[in-house]
Amino acid sequence: MINPFVEEIALQVSHATNMPADEVRALLETPPRPEMGDRALPCFALAKTLRKAPHLIARELAAQMATGGRISEVRPTGPYLNFFLSKTHLIAETLWAILDQGAEYGRGDEGVGKTVVIDFSHPNIAKPFGIHHLRSTVIGNALRNIYRALGYKVVGVNHLGDWGAQFAKLILAWNYWGEGELTADITIQKLLELYVRIHEEIEDKPELEREARAWFRRLEAGDEEAVRMWRVCVEASFKEFDRVYKMLDIGFESIAGESFYQDKMPAVLAQLREQGLLTQSEGASIVDLEAWDMPPFIALRSDDATLYGTRDLAALMYRWKTYRFEKLLYVVDVAQSLHFRQLFQVLELMKCDWREKCVHVQFGRLRFKDGGGASTRRGNVIFLEDVLHRAIELTRQIMADKNPDLPNREQIARDVGIGAIIFADLDSKRVRDIAFDWDEVLNFNGETGPYVQYTHARYCSVLRRYAGPLPPRDVNFELLNETEAVEVVKCLARFPDQIQKAADEYEPAAITALMVELCVVANRFYNAHQVLSGRADLTAARVALVYAIKTVLASGLALLGMKAPEQM
Ligand code: ARG
Repeated sequence: MINPFVEEIALQVSHATNMPADEVRALLETPPRPEMGDRALPCFALAKTLRKAPHLIARELAAQMATGGRISEVRPTGPYLNFFLSKTHLIAETLWAILDQGAEYGRGDEGVGKTVVIDFSHPNIAKPFGIHHLRSTVIGNALRNIYRALGYKVVGVNHLGDWGAQFAKLILAWNYWGEGELTADITIQKLLELYVRIHEEIEDKPELEREARAWFRRLEAGDEEAVRMWRVCVEASFKEFDRVYKMLDIGFESIAGESFYQDKMPAVLAQLREQGLLTQSEGASIVDLEAWDMPPFIALRSDDATLYGTRDLAALMYRWKTYRFEKLLYVVDVAQSLHFRQLFQVLELMKCDWREKCVHVQFGRLRFKDGGGASTRRGNVIFLEDVLHRAIELTRQIMADKNPDLPNREQIARDVGIGAIIFADLDSKRVRDIAFDWDEVLNFNGETGPYVQYTHARYCSVLRRYAGPLPPRDVNFELLNETEAVEVVKCLARFPDQIQKAADEYEPAAITALMVELCVVANRFYNAHQVLSGRADLTAARVALVYAIKTVLASGLALLGMKAPEQM
């Protein structure tokens, strides 16, 4: 959605400087303190083209800006040009937009007719859905919602790790130690034990490695027995993954794991060969990337077994052909950044001019300060499912204390417990490592999911107590001129910009930050002013503001992939 105030600034500056309005818009910042203004234009970027010192540019531009409408004042401060927005305009326009558009407020249409493919979650079959896959799952899901809000068609793809040499090892292990036939009622726990055991065994007896490779060859050749056992592993794993996806309420437009590309690799290998990109090295076929300071991209192993990277390359070609995407986002751990740099470099060598549309949206590590707690560890691994259950259990205890008479308490404990995990994951810049501390994650007064949900529920309850129709009509916005109310409106007005920013930077934290800020200013307003009073006009104006707060909090939570209970 276009923010009319930002637009006004961008157009005026563009007019005065000849810099395209888009570029001006991208430069605008929010000053660190409200006394300094509502928006700031740093003039450094203009210094080159205008051949003047930034502070001079700021001073000269200030004189050229027209005030009186949406912009009430312009003030040069050093190298910055600070803009003050007209409160009357801001309040009336922002609140009107929210009352009018409701849940649609903040959405945009820049993506209409364009497709974004998001490769996210992608756990590995026959292995636990661990917390390391939590981040990809919740960041990917939030981006999916955010891009959708901007009008894009989003294809969320679950690129399951369902192919590779590890299955051959499992088959081998089952043949050694399994009882009877391998069937789909086997648990991931059991598969994991087998996997760990065969690994230890292989260390002692390296000749087993050869046996495992033989099984992988059989699997790749479509051997009936091998394929049947593999299929059982896939089925058994997906049953467990599905439980996690249901708890998180996350779905995909396409579940196409690595195995899906099995028959699509020969074409890619042929293309590489045709373009003269493949060389032989110790029996393997590689793409040499030395010129880019990277190890070679291995396309085919010396025993002709295919690899993770080759499947990714086939997936890239398939996705381009199928979706003609505007963007393809890989929401994957920072540990794989070399892999993606190699992959994208190979694309460039293959003369795929859409290479720039592919982005590795990387994120840092997640760990628990208490090591996960004994109750969420099985062996050495933390199962995500156990973490979610623990969050729900702890929330249940907190709610039993806080609000024992709450109807529908069980569902709310789930919404809040799981929401707490999602919010904590999204709340810091994604590239940063994060350390979960249960007390912090679930603190109802900290910068947490429960705090935002609780604030939302609080304003729902105010609205329940208001007798009139919602949203109120005939609002006199002039009555909302107290500082606390104005701060709330300023925050609400930034919601559309933050959605845009979250999309542009692949950064859901842009939304969490605004949510927390909105809660803080909203609560400040609420503590300073009585919403429901004997004065009908004042009540209507304040209820309109509360309605707007509630609407934006609910929209923000939905974008993050969280529930917004109306009572807590
Ligand atoms: N399954 C992989 C893992 O857990 C991640 C897959 C990422 N997506 C991709 N297209 N490579 O490490």
